[in-house]
Amino acid sequence: MINIVKISIEEFEYEIYSKYKKIFPSAERRKWSKIKKSYNEGIERFYKVELNEKTIGFIMLENVINNCKLVMKNDYDYYAKDRHDKLLAGLMPSHRFVEKPMMKDMIEDLSNKKVLMLGCGTGEESIFLKAFGAKEEDLIGIDLSKKSIELAKKSYPNITFIVGDMSKLPFEDNFFDYIYSSLAIHYSPNPEIVYKEVYRVLKPNGKFLFSLVHPIRWASFEKEIDGSLYRLIGCSVDDKESTVFGSYNTFKEHTHTHFSWGINETLSFYVGSPSFHFKLLRKSGFEVLDFTESKAIEETKKDDMNYYIKNSELPQFMAFLAIKK
Ligand SMILES: C[S@@+](CC[C@H](N)C(=O)[O-])C[C@H]1O[C@@H](n2cnc3c(N)ncnc32)[C@H](O)[C@@H]1O
Repeated sequence: MINIVKISIEEFEYEIYSKYKKIFPSAERRKWSKIKKSYNEGIERFYKVELNEKTIGFIMLENVINNCKLVMKNDYDYYAKDRHDKLLAGLMPSHRFVEKPMMKDMIEDLSNKKVLMLGCGTGEESIFLKAFGAKEEDLIGIDLSKKSIELAKKSYPNITFIVGDMSKLPFEDNFFDYIYSSLAIHYSPNPEIVYKEVYRVLKPNGKFLFSLVHPIRWASFEKEIDGSLYRLIGCSVDDKESTVFGSYNTFKEHTHTHFSWGINETLSFYVGSPSFHFKLLRKSGFEVLDFTESKAIEETKKDDMNYYIKNSELPQFMAFLAIKK
């Protein structure tokens, strides 16, 4: 059931601010202007109903949030267009300032190499890979999200994109020279199956570069302290009963909801420690050549100093480079 309420813009902003604070305690720490901008973007796109010049109707916020909670978990079809636009506009700081710089330091010349983009989303990583010499005709992207692949095909018509699952790759053995994957493998509940599939479709001496969420950030426990929200990994240090926040050593599913583009997006992924993945790679036949924990680059400071401080001191992502022996 959708309720439409008739209110002025000022009332609307007040409504959103107070309700948002109740639902997301971290709101107080954030800049109101940022929240407002983000909310307005979402409202513009989905929920605004023009009634007359001075009044605007909005679908009740609770409905919006409750609906989002039900439908938004890992919904890459729903976000395909937004992700595509934001990536191209450089508006995803985690990619621009943290993940891609980490991958850039580990990648090599891809000239004359047949390259698979595993979990390629809307295909923007092809621009990155081309900068390292990959030719369009040698690039193949695969992703589970039909909408993302549709968009990738439209945007990069000379590259092959297919809908498919990384745990059952539709390629013959020894097919690729290089497999690249950005922030996708952590959606698999069983990365060993994925590593074995990647091993199978890589040629001998073929390389596999991929990034994952880092447990320091994503296996943490969210706790509100004095009205602010913290992500914690650690334990109590006094002699009383032990309290542990987060789960660094256990491979398991973690769910995070963040407020984005006017609605709350829920992402759920499987987080394991670096040694967990290292051992699985070895078990699948790989030799691990390199490992990096991410650090925001200096350029981030100009864009968002707070983001720089957090992401230069603590790794948000990690990346492995492995070779098929
Ligand atoms: C965070 S996005 C990353 C997209 C792209 N690599 C990038 O960096 O922009 C994660 C992608 O993994 C895809 N994905 C999740 N599970 C998958 C699976 N089992 N097989 C293939 N793709 C999958 C999602 O559809 C989504 O497009």
